[in-house]
Formats: sequence, C-alpha cells, structure tokens
Amino acid sequence: MSGHRSVMLPEALAFLHPEPEGWWADLTVGGGGHTEALLQATAPGGRVLGLDRDAENLEKTRQRLLTYGERLHLIHANYSELAGPARELGISGFRGILMDLGVSSFQFDDADRGFSFQQDAPLDMRMDRSRGVTAAEIVNHTDEKQLADWFYTYGGERRSRQLAHAIVRQRPLSTTLQLAEVAKRAVGYSGKIHPATRAFQALRLVVNDELGSLEQGLAAAAALLEEGGRLVVISFHSLEDRIVKQFFRAGGWEILTRHVVRPTEAEVSENPRSRSARLRAALRRRQG
Ligand SMILES: C[S@@+](CC[C@H](N)C(=O)[O-])C[C@H]1O[C@@H](n2cnc3c(N)ncnc32)[C@H](O)[C@@H]1O
Repeated sequence: MSGHRSVMLPEALAFLHPEPEGWWADLTVGGGGHTEALLQATAPGGRVLGLDRDAENLEKTRQRLLTYGERLHLIHANYSELAGPARELGISGFRGILMDLGVSSFQFDDADRGFSFQQDAPLDMRMDRSRGVTAAEIVNHTDEKQLADWFYTYGGERRSRQLAHAIVRQRPLSTTLQLAEVAKRAVGYSGKIHPATRAFQALRLVVNDELGSLEQGLAAAAALLEEGGRLVVISFHSLEDRIVKQFFRAGGWEILTRHVVRPTEAEVSENPRSRSARLRAALRRRQG
C-alpha cells in the first residue's frame, strides 16, 4: 500500500453520513482506502458494493479486504453499468454512493500501464485492459484535426494543432517516451509543466471515455439512491467537475456543497496528487 493515500477521506465520509445498516457503494474502489473507511464507518450492519473497471487492481484490493467477509462485494465493472451488479445482488437502493474519479496511483505508477511518461512503456492507458482501444491505436489512427480538438478540449493544450501535426508526421508511435519526445519538440516548455502532461491527460480521457462514463455513472447512481441518500463525487479535472455540478443543478437534489470543497493545505503538502481534487455532494430528494 506504500505511496497510496486516499484523497479527501474525512470530508468524503462526513458527506456520506454513514450509518450501521443498509447498502453503500464505492464505485471507484482502486486501492480500497475509501472502501475500507466506509466499511468501518458502517459497521456492524452496513454492506458495501465496490466497483472498479480495473480487474487487476481490484483483485489485489480484494485480497487486502478479505477480512470484511460478507459485508463487502467487489465487482469488476464500469460504474456506468451499476444497475447490473445491483440487480444481481437484489439491491433496491443505496444509502450513499461515492465516486473518486480518475486513475489511482497504482495505475499511474505501474510503468506497464502507459499512463506516465516518467518511464518507457507501451502506449496503452486503458484502465480496463480487457476491452477497448489503446492510446497507441488512437494516436496512430485518428485524423489530425480530431487529435488537435482532443488536445485542446481535454488537455487545454494551446498548441494543440502543432502537436497533432507533429504526431501525424512521426507516427507510428508505440511508447510513452516516443510520444513525450514528440510533445516536447512540438510544444516546448511553458512554465514548469512537462509539455507532454496535457497530451497524456487528453489521451487518457479519450481512451477511457471518462467523461461519457461519468455522465452515465451519475445517472446510474441517481437511479439507485434511496430518498435522502447521498452522492459524493471527487473529481480531478475541471471538465469532470463541471459535469458533476451541472448534474446536481439539473434537479432532484439538495446540494450539500454550495461551494466546491478542496483538500486542506495540510493534505496537499502531504500528498501533492490531491492538489487538483474537488469534492461535491448532494442528497437525493423525493422523486415525483
Ligand atoms: C482515484 S482512484 C480511486 C482510489 C480509491 N478511492 C482509494 O481510496 O484507493 C480511481 C479508480 O476508479 C477506477 N475507475 C475510473 N473510472 C471508472 C469507471 N468508469 N468505472 C469503474 N471504475 C472506474 C479506476 O480504475 C481507479 O482504480
């Protein structure tokens, strides 16, 4: 578990308002830090359904949390498919649902997965390696204009057209360092951020359809929350946060976070990866 810290854990738990009974869901189990805290906070009678689209990491977390026995059900699934596992387990509603978006530090630090350009690895970036297309397939087969649009919209890259042009000229690219090198030459440094950062972020969102899954996941969670149940979402990207904010504002919710909640300075200094986290929470109103 070294190197992994669950982001905004006390805040997330406080907004979930755990009780010692009923069903709870962690839709993004990752290393299981939030899941375990939720299990402890809902003891002795609360039960937790945990999902993650990354089968390999979920298996490791399953081994670690075996001691919770029947109170925990872990299932390999995209959270957009929440209705399926809930139906199979006979769950009619959850008291609280947590979503902690993005990649986990296990995925990011695992050189093999291709999320990071700190080490050379195949350009993969799929959270679920059992399906979907890799980042290599996307950079090598997408037309230049589409690539530029993604770098601009999802990565906030101002030199998106130069970057897309350089990629198309130099492809096929198959490794993280090849892409990082092309980005470095095409975009150059602006400030301290490595020029490949925005390209990698954009590709990761595309490879995993992260924004599409989020919209579907929020709808799936809303459909399965009990009246008075709480949905807590931690996001790391302004586009994700905007989707969450708009979803809550569209109706059917009592918003518990009038302003978005950010990690404390102490957390950011202890865990720099938490610095872009934003938490929003809402309570499900009676429908109809
Ligand atoms: C930031 S990590 C979660 C860390 C976790 N809360 C902890 O305390 O260890 C996000 C996790 O969500 C998973 N994930 C991302 N998008 C998903 C989706 N659409 N469906 C299911 N899991 C997803 C990733 O595979 C990753 O393991």
